[in-house]
Amino acid sequence: MNHFEFHGGELCCEGVPLARIAQAVGTPVYVYSSATLERHYQVLRDALTGVGIADPLIAFAVKANPNVAVLRTLARQGAGADVVSEGEIRRALAAGVPADRIVFSGVGKTRGEIAFALQTGVAEINVESEPELELIDAVGRELGVRAAVAIRVNPDVEAGGHAKISTGKADNKFGVSLAEAGRLYARAANMAGVRAVGVACHIGSQITDLSPMRAAFAKMRSLVERLRGEGLSVERLDLGGGLGVPYFNQPEPPPPAEYAAMIAEVVKGLDVRLAFEPGRMVAANAGVLVAQVLHIHERPEGRRFLVIDAAMNDLIRPAMYDAYHDIRPLRPRLGEHVIYDVVGPVCETGDTFTRDRPLPPLKAADLLAFMTAGAYGSAMASEYNSRLLVPEVLVKGDEFAVVRPRPTYDDMLARERTAPWF
Ligand code: LLP
Repeated sequence: MNHFEFHGGELCCEGVPLARIAQAVGTPVYVYSSATLERHYQVLRDALTGVGIADPLIAFAVKANPNVAVLRTLARQGAGADVVSEGEIRRALAAGVPADRIVFSGVGKTRGEIAFALQTGVAEINVESEPELELIDAVGRELGVRAAVAIRVNPDVEAGGHAKISTGKADNKFGVSLAEAGRLYARAANMAGVRAVGVACHIGSQITDLSPMRAAFAKMRSLVERLRGEGLSVERLDLGGGLGVPYFNQPEPPPPAEYAAMIAEVVKGLDVRLAFEPGRMVAANAGVLVAQVLHIHERPEGRRFLVIDAAMNDLIRPAMYDAYHDIRPLRPRLGEHVIYDVVGPVCETGDTFTRDRPLPPLKAADLLAFMTAGAYGSAMASEYNSRLLVPEVLVKGDEFAVVRPRPTYDDMLARERTAPWF
């Protein structure tokens, strides 16, 4: 459920018509709903606690939506943060996420980032490989701390979904094998600069079927039991990212209650603190990208291009993953649907949001929204073609605030320097 609905023929975010935001801030613009963010967090938390999972750490995957106001909205609900860089740690801290609710993941952490994380006092570093474990140990000893680490295991399951975001197969770069995990865990337990606290896995994103998750989590349970059987202490189990979301042309993901019930069943009696790193299921349906129609370009060959002022640099998911986003005119006109190819101004054919999409009839200057764009939308935006970074607006009830303004062209140019030989 989300809070983007039509009232009086106008698509609104909570109590604010999106057209009013477009008029005030200009387009393209991302708009997020506080109520939806809060609700998604609460539904997941209640589902988990409802099946008896006590005090789960729900660490929002900052990569999905790093806007500090978005993070603050979630932090106020009690969310932690799953981070993958020093930048994300800084964002989480700026948003008021307590350091002891921050989990630091990622396959290529630098010495500097590890030191920063340890000085900050993050809850846990998820270790992806043996060289990384050795580096964390060295940094921990230098700083005179024992870094709490979880070994990220690659459970080698086929998660389905898009190959570019599937992470849990043995030929992916993530984590160590189940066989290796035991050896590494035992090594970690004997290191002076680290403290082995648990194990972690994440098999991929936009997963709409519980069975690969169940298979992976069952393997993680066996691993915890095996490690304990060897006399090692395992306090925490991190079960990675959350469920997929409905993008309207895909299988409906199971409800959070079913996900929670499956987890409760798999970990029954295990006595570990569970952590989760959901991004998409919390933020995707809490955001839209609003754009304006520039013109309609009809080619004699029969294609009808709806040229809009948003482009692949603002929302790259269709170009990168062939992702489908529902498109809704903010004030739909009556009349038969028309077939459009929706494209942006960037100079490559990849800048196509969709082909052959039936939409209500549109005209130049009409406004439309790309739905389900609150996760991996603005987060992946760039200035390709020297287009200004897209601004972000947060809505709460009848109010809205520009939480990241559109930069000016002077801002863009001021970041660069000339070279001495010019
Ligand atoms: N934890 C780890 C270690 C991850 O790598 C990810 C996502 C998550 C948690 C959050 O997963 P989620 O709950 O959002 O499914 N840009 C792509 C998605 C990349 C996901 C990367 N890792 C997209 O737009 O579909």
